[in-house]
Amino acid sequence: MAENLVIYPGSFDPITNGHLDLIERGARMFEHLVVAILTNIEKRPFFTVNERVHMLEEVTKGMPNVSVDTFSGLLVEYAKRKKARAILRGIRAFSDYEYEFQMALMNRKLEPTLETVFLMPAEAYTYVSSRLVKEVLQHGGNPKNLVPPYVERRMKEKLAARRAANG
Ligand code: PNS
Repeated sequence: MAENLVIYPGSFDPITNGHLDLIERGARMFEHLVVAILTNIEKRPFFTVNERVHMLEEVTKGMPNVSVDTFSGLLVEYAKRKKARAILRGIRAFSDYEYEFQMALMNRKLEPTLETVFLMPAEAYTYVSSRLVKEVLQHGGNPKNLVPPYVERRMKEKLAARRAANG
C-alpha cells in the first residue's frame, strides 16, 4: 500500500476531460491516486456504477499509479480504511467554492487529521461538468472534446439504447 495515497472522490457520471486533467495533476503529486466512485449518490444515474468503473479504468489505464474503486457511506471512513493522506477535489469556478468549502470543513470536523487538497483543472475545462455534458448530448449536441473519446462513444451508445427502449 502506498504511503502517500490520495483519494479523488466523486460521482463521475460520466468522467469528463476536466476530471481526467485533475487525475493527471494529482497523480504527479502523490505516490498513488484512487479515483473513488460514490455508489449511492443519485437515484437515476446515466451510467451504472459498473459502467463508470469500467470507463474510468479504460481512460486511466496508461497511468500506473492510478486505480479505480467504489465506496458508500462516509468518505472519511473510506479514506481511513485506505490510509489516505488526503482527499483531492477540483475547483473550477467561484460557484464550486461554497459547496467544496462546506464539504471540506464537514470532512475535517468528522476526521481532523485528513486534509482536502484542491487543484484547478486546465482553463479549457473550467466550464465542463458531467451534468452539462449529459444535457448537451440529450439535446442533440456533441460532447466531443468535453469527455475522452471512449466515453463519448459510450455516451452515444447509451443514449441510442435508451431511445430504442423507450420507443
Ligand atoms: O462529484 P460529486 O458528485 O460532487 O462528489 C460528491 C462526493 C461523492 C465527494 C460527496 O457527495 C461525498 O463525499 N459523499 C459521501 C458521503 C459523505 O461523506 N458526506 C459527508 C461529507 S460532506
